Amino acid sequence: MVEKVQAPIEALLQEGRTFPPPDEFRQRANINDPGVYEEAERDPEGFWARWAEQLHWFRKWERVLEWNPPWAKWFVGGKTNLAYNCLDRHLTGARKNKAAILWEGEPGEVRILTYWELYRQVCKFANVLKSLGVKKGDRVTIYMPMVPELPIAMLACARIGAVHSVVFGGFSSDALRDRIQDAQAKVLVTAEGGWRRGNIVPLKRNADEALKECPSIEHVVVFHRGCYEQSQVPMTPGRDLWWHELMAQAPLECPAEEMDAEDMLYILYTSGTTGKPKGVVHTTGGYMVGVYATTKWVFDLKEEDTYWCTADIGWVTGHSYIVYGPLLCGTTTVMYEGSPDWPERDRWWALVERHGVNILYTAPTAIRTFMRWGEEWPARHDLSSLRLLGSVGEPINPEAWVWYWRNIGGGRCPVVDTWWQTETGMIMITPLPGITVCKPGSATRPFPGVAADVVDDAGNSVPAGAGGYLVLKRPWPAMMRTIYGDPDRYVQQYWSRYPGIYFTGDGAKRDEDGYFWIVGRIDDVVNVAGHRIGTMEVESALVDHPSVAEAAVIGRSDEVKGQALWAFVTIKEGVDRHQGLEQELREHVARKIGGIARPDRIIFAAELPKTRSGKIMRRLLRDIAEGRALGDTTTLQDPAVVQTLREQYEHLEG
Ligand code: WTA
Repeated sequence: MVEKVQAPIEALLQEGRTFPPPDEFRQRANINDPGVYEEAERDPEGFWARWAEQLHWFRKWERVLEWNPPWAKWFVGGKTNLAYNCLDRHLTGARKNKAAILWEGEPGEVRILTYWELYRQVCKFANVLKSLGVKKGDRVTIYMPMVPELPIAMLACARIGAVHSVVFGGFSSDALRDRIQDAQAKVLVTAEGGWRRGNIVPLKRNADEALKECPSIEHVVVFHRGCYEQSQVPMTPGRDLWWHELMAQAPLECPAEEMDAEDMLYILYTSGTTGKPKGVVHTTGGYMVGVYATTKWVFDLKEEDTYWCTADIGWVTGHSYIVYGPLLCGTTTVMYEGSPDWPERDRWWALVERHGVNILYTAPTAIRTFMRWGEEWPARHDLSSLRLLGSVGEPINPEAWVWYWRNIGGGRCPVVDTWWQTETGMIMITPLPGITVCKPGSATRPFPGVAADVVDDAGNSVPAGAGGYLVLKRPWPAMMRTIYGDPDRYVQQYWSRYPGIYFTGDGAKRDEDGYFWIVGRIDDVVNVAGHRIGTMEVESALVDHPSVAEAAVIGRSDEVKGQALWAFVTIKEGVDRHQGLEQELREHVARKIGGIARPDRIIFAAELPKTRSGKIMRRLLRDIAEGRALGDTTTLQDPAVVQTLREQYEHLEG
């Protein structure tokens, strides 16, 4: 076993301690020439075109980019198919029998699908979708546990040109219903359940509830995960069909549809600053190229690597870096269904050891949880197969970065802290592990060809060391194209603050070396354990409860989750504030949205602080929750309100 680095974290965090790529890593890296930055900068379109040329096109593009801000078209006139590039392209060489997906279920089963087998299943399921009347451009909603059938369904959609909309399995029936309705999906693909921490997630039951109000759905395909007996699963005749029965009859032959580079590939809903989630739209050609390039360079993939991204495919990280990126690169991508502490807190490390994982990509919230559980859990396993570590989803604090580097990476693996968003589709700010000297806590520099900046209110770049808004100043291939059914909101939300410049919603600093330090969201979006949750969504769920008059939800800093949801609530006149009400409201939110949105704390207030024009001042509620001095209160309508709240809060805590 590789020797563990013994220095205490504090010593490693000393001012100025930086982490250059280890020599051996740098020498073998896919990219180790810093000249790539300059080269891409000189001709960004040429840079992306060279990546595109490595992939398969039925017809080559005429122009790399057509940019009418904020509307972009990439690889104009090009025809391609993403599933073809992920599968068929690999079948003529040695990858045909290589593991494409290496899956482990929470109860412990292992399934390995080779590229050939994955290709077969995708073609067959594509034919199943066709037999159900799904045509190019139709939307298919996928609400599944983390099983291989989830990427199979996505790739089948991509193969025939249907648009997939994957809804995270932790979302409630209401959330599923809203997303199906918005997308007007024709088919829903689900399973009867999935395993999570030894419990069954009742997906089919939630789906049935949602479908009471989804007339667009013609058929439901149900994969039998084995949580319940088939006979125990209520199937609506004519509408619901078993996955395995359809597959048994499906032919294998299914040519890949020739898709225009700008044809829609998928919709993925994400939280914004209003109560309504927005359907982020990604298209085919540019997304494929951006995700391919970043996977290859950021994760330094080698033919023999086993790569594991621990995200759920219900989020963009899973779309881009469990499914599409790794398969485009012909990699073995690991999928794990369940929870990290099932049956014990070393499940992930057992997985790394058993499958010989070389590259691990996870979230800071997981790392902080492992820190809390203690070093002994990873120490029980041989983690020497690991050679590169990644982080995504929220700012990683330097302590967690160093802990990860030392206790998981054994002090020999570079750590890539990657900043990006559902909207960007691909990693945007990141180290290149064979080139970049890392500073714990910094996502370092924009990927070659990406133009990021930190600007002030007027849109001017801030000087080194100063803070401001993180923006992107040049289009990139995997960028979102619009919000499904709401182009105005696309323009308004991302492109109106600074015309022609993409507004990320994140705050950031840039240091003397040009390194970016992401501070976090500056809008009404809270990042709880790496999940984006709109405070407005939680507020509308709360006021939907018969006892609640008003609600204001804020993010409060949390040691493990990064941020936790706290709700300040006023109740209706005459309602009894009984003992169980706090719990009842928390559960109500979980039912309306999903467990990830369940507030940590509900604080009952007589009144909420408001401006004279009646706007709730969430900023002051944040000050109260964090226990710090109140900011500017001059616009407050009634200063007594915050005073009372503060006293009440101190009383609550004491
Ligand atoms: C945050 C996840 C700091 C950020 C891929 C962003 C990060 C939001 C990082 C997007 C990082 C993501 N450092 N913050 N490395 N990565 N974020 O859409 O606030 O779920 O705007 O995409 O997560 O979250 P989303």
